[in-house]
Amino acid sequence: MTTFEVRTFGCQMNKHDSERVAGLLRTQGFLPAEEGTDADVIVFLTCCVRENADERLQGQVASLKALKAVAPDTLIAVGGCIGQRDGEILLRQLPHVDVVFGTHNLGRLPELLIRARTSDVPVVEVLDSGTDFTSDLPGEREHPWHAWVPITVGCDNFCTYCIVPYVRGRERSREMDDIVAQCRDLVADGVREITLLGQNVNSYGRDLYGEPRFAETLRAVAATGIDRIRFATSHPKDLSNETIAAMAELPSVCAALHLPVQSGSNRILEAMNRRYTAEEYLALVKRLYAAIPGLALSTDIIVGFPGETEEDFEATMHVVRESRYAQAFTFIYSPREGTPAALMDNPVPREVTQKRFDRLVKAVNEGAREYNKPLVGTVQKVLVEGTSKRDVRVLAGRTQGNKVVHAPAPNGVDISQLAGKFADIRIEESQTWFLVGTVEGYEPT
Ligand code: 5AD
Ligand code: SF4
Repeated sequence: MTTFEVRTFGCQMNKHDSERVAGLLRTQGFLPAEEGTDADVIVFLTCCVRENADERLQGQVASLKALKAVAPDTLIAVGGCIGQRDGEILLRQLPHVDVVFGTHNLGRLPELLIRARTSDVPVVEVLDSGTDFTSDLPGEREHPWHAWVPITVGCDNFCTYCIVPYVRGRERSREMDDIVAQCRDLVADGVREITLLGQNVNSYGRDLYGEPRFAETLRAVAATGIDRIRFATSHPKDLSNETIAAMAELPSVCAALHLPVQSGSNRILEAMNRRYTAEEYLALVKRLYAAIPGLALSTDIIVGFPGETEEDFEATMHVVRESRYAQAFTFIYSPREGTPAALMDNPVPREVTQKRFDRLVKAVNEGAREYNKPLVGTVQKVLVEGTSKRDVRVLAGRTQGNKVVHAPAPNGVDISQLAGKFADIRIEESQTWFLVGTVEGYEPT
């Protein structure tokens, strides 16, 4: 019997791919390793969008040398974006890796592992393109009630700091019929929440149909009867009025939107090749709040892009205050070889970036608290996920705005029976990162 473990870094697409790897390996007779035991096969799904993800992989794989010394038959496979980017070269730094695969040939992993078992040299297979929509492969959902559904892969935007278009290739959309058929199957299988995935979901369909058809896709997915729809990521330049209208009209589409701004300075936005101005972004935010009551807006922000001045950073802080984000992911700029920004002059000194970053995080946390406050006293529909990490008597779930809610389990109810069910929870307290409440009702278990 061969056991496996999948270690995932990076974005939601990798989480989805991890579920595919687990499903694939299971159909080949591999079994997940029990927690605390060493697996026979360790698969890494990697990310190269920022340097620290690269470094973390190096650290983790290097530390497996010791395991290989005592268990030489252990197989280490590295896939995802670093596998795709580096191929063979990866073996120079990490010679004890047995399999390198890319983002286009996930389905070939079992075969590559079998080859590696009998081969004296590492097995490397990276393709320039291929059948990308791994949703066609058997999957094993981490949570039975939630599914990731990729609708596009790749990216055509070439933001100057970003390596994704070089690694993942041009944007390709999946046929709408395939997407909808898969969603229908998922609903029949008991899934309650679907997250549609793509680097830029708003341009979905442009390559296939000559024009974006994301709003239509939202409507078609909603018509499958799924309870909740989320999607990520949206590029502000491509968010259409039709999509805003679909979000406003369709009750199953969560009032939550991830709309990365990256910077609030027009000079920096231009250098980043984002193709919108801060004014256009803020006008869009205004329209969104007007159309979608209670919208939970989230964003990504990069600090310390080459040439960023104090004034540029202040402009970012202004956008943060104006946009009232429910959540924001903040990143320190990390030069990526092969991108235009990596060749730009005027790097911002590390200490300056760090200070700006700390100020930004403070503002972002303040924004999250502000978003949470008015929820106190309301009753929120929460999709229960399981017990809270701190206390097994407390359930944890998410509002449609993606806020974590904790509430004591109702008397005599086993929380594991509630997982994947909706509960009405009266919010009594708000913290920065979660809300606390009392269950007022729940779906029959
Ligand atoms: N440095 C820092 N952050 C980056 N991101 C992408 N590339 C870089 C980089 N080179 C951030 C962007 C993007 C998120 C997924 O990662 O904010 O939206
Ligand atoms: Fe990278 Fe920009 Fe494409 Fe997002 S839209 S993946 S940041 S190039």
